[in-house]
Amino acid sequence: MTKFLTTTSVIALALAGAVTAARAADVKEVQMLHWWTSGGEAAALNVLKGDLAKEGFAWKDVPVAGGGGDAAMTALKAMVAAGTYPTASQMLGYTVLDYAAAGVMGDLTETAVKEGWDKSVPAALQKFSVYDGKWVAAPVNVHSVNWLWINKAVMDKIGGTEPKSFEDLIALLEKAKAAGVIPLALGGQNWQEATMFDSIVLSTGGPEFYKKAFNELDEDSLKSDTMKKSFDNLGQIIKYVDPNFSGRDWNLATAMVIKGDALVQVMGDWAKGEFVAAKKTPDTDFLCYRFPGTDGSVIYNSDMFGMFNVPDDQKAAQVALATATLSKSFQSAFNVVKGSVPARTDVPDTDFDACGKKGIADLKAANDGGTLFGSLAQGYGAPPAVANAYKDVVTKFVHGQITSSDQAVEELVKAIDDAK
Ligand code: BGC
Repeated sequence: MTKFLTTTSVIALALAGAVTAARAADVKEVQMLHWWTSGGEAAALNVLKGDLAKEGFAWKDVPVAGGGGDAAMTALKAMVAAGTYPTASQMLGYTVLDYAAAGVMGDLTETAVKEGWDKSVPAALQKFSVYDGKWVAAPVNVHSVNWLWINKAVMDKIGGTEPKSFEDLIALLEKAKAAGVIPLALGGQNWQEATMFDSIVLSTGGPEFYKKAFNELDEDSLKSDTMKKSFDNLGQIIKYVDPNFSGRDWNLATAMVIKGDALVQVMGDWAKGEFVAAKKTPDTDFLCYRFPGTDGSVIYNSDMFGMFNVPDDQKAAQVALATATLSKSFQSAFNVVKGSVPARTDVPDTDFDACGKKGIADLKAANDGGTLFGSLAQGYGAPPAVANAYKDVVTKFVHGQITSSDQAVEELVKAIDDAK
């Protein structure tokens, strides 16, 4: 009997020891690669750091500056090649699917089932966070790119009203110019220019055209007169930037609007994160309008935390991160600061400002009405190689290396074809 008890105790002790050892070995740290380095972005990230700290997880930051994430994705590629995966990385759309196809992503399905993500996350996001039936990423938010961000005081000063067509927008920019204000705040970097061009294409050709050209890569649409007209419109609008726009970061362009040095920026709603960080209020300090001619449609992208196939002792941290990210309270608190809207359909809009409430309502309407489209500039229209080819042609046009809309269309068709 004594012997039996002793043996049992030894086994029990050994088992307890093993469990303790496994627990003790769990890495209580989240290593995150991201490109959220502007004031508004950092403030939003702090919400997440705070939530994880409460659960005892340290934060190991891997920031790679550069809006749009191209530099971050180069850094990620190097880490993955070296086999040193972060716990998670900020990623956009097709990039998640590429890494999943390469077999380096983890599997969060158990957490997803427990938390009911399939019921709360919209299908447009599940398309990019589920691969081969497995959850490989946790969507953080939904951003939308077809917005105008306007300084209200400047708007009042020039007697401007909401532009309802592309022609109205040009007339408004003329007014600003006549009043001696920089009309259009733009950073001359390829991803910013292409992000603006997404809106121009939707405005010029309408929802069906955008979808065919930039989500389905339909060649007839890409080489059409409508695409040519879109480049004509791009040519017109960029006449309203200041001479120092080349290379400027997007948040510095937003700051020009916040300070009243410029009238308007065409940018995704991460720009609103900068207004919020500067303690500015919609309708009092700034105005958010849909890019003229795009009302009723939403061009979206979503930041995803791509979850890699990390060693076992890091899996608990990954689950904690994913669970925190998709919790309802985080979805509200984070997106209020970030400028985006929740990646779940069941989060109340109570805490959001007027632009956020509009963003949530617009997303729902577009989702219901079939007018929710992936942003080609932001990795949701086509795989990265195609998106890069697109950004390249747009920036060459903006900076005068492509000199006509005819040539731009020709090069776009060829570049996309080569990249496919
Ligand atoms: C991301 C945003 C980010 C923006 C500028 C976009 O690609 O989706 O979260 O704020 O780039 O850095």
